[in-house]
Amino acid sequence: MKIFIDSGDTNEIKEAQSMGLIDGVTTNPTLASKSGKPFKQLIMEITEIVDGPISAEVVSITAPEMIKEGEDIATWHKNIVVKIPLIAEGLKAVKHLTEKGIKTNVTLCFNANQALLAAKAGATYISPFVGRLDDIGAEGMQVIRDIRLIYDNYGIDTQILTASARSPMHFLEAARIGSDVITAPWSVLKGLLHHPLTDSGLKKFLADWEKGQAKQ
Ligand code: E4P
Repeated sequence: MKIFIDSGDTNEIKEAQSMGLIDGVTTNPTLASKSGKPFKQLIMEITEIVDGPISAEVVSITAPEMIKEGEDIATWHKNIVVKIPLIAEGLKAVKHLTEKGIKTNVTLCFNANQALLAAKAGATYISPFVGRLDDIGAEGMQVIRDIRLIYDNYGIDTQILTASARSPMHFLEAARIGSDVITAPWSVLKGLLHHPLTDSGLKKFLADWEKGQAKQ
């Protein structure tokens, strides 16, 4: 399973990259605004840090405007993936951009039927938001299971990008199901590293070393 970081913070992207953890980056208008940087500058800085797919989202809501915006964003760097919301106008834009050889990430997906339609339009990635579904009492990971089943039934090659992942269980389940990619904030990725037995084991190894070997 590929791992993307969901972030507009170049310091945390650098930190994750230095550990070799990430294959790509996703951003969204909220994360871009939080960065305090002009959008193009932010995306260009990210392309300097990570050599992998970088999702940059359009903010228009009609197909012609999304196409214009997407075509422009795609010229910024070879690794750009144009992120498009899962609405009717968005799918028209996805079809057009796909025909022009531009990669797309269809975002704000909340069920498997939407994911099937996005794939038909030619999406490179589909982003189902599992955490936001959990927030309203639905089972986010069930959507990932359903999409995996349907895409496999028909040999669909749109990549499932589990998004809005907020817990280690989202991560584990996504890997078990065979999600192609997961994107998660740095706080979640960092959290996966920790285990109390790792910490106590290391403490004991170092204490034993001090008692014996350090005195030799
Ligand atoms: C995905 O590409 C989105 O940017 C993201 O995963 C949304 O996550 P949130 O629901 O935690 O905001």
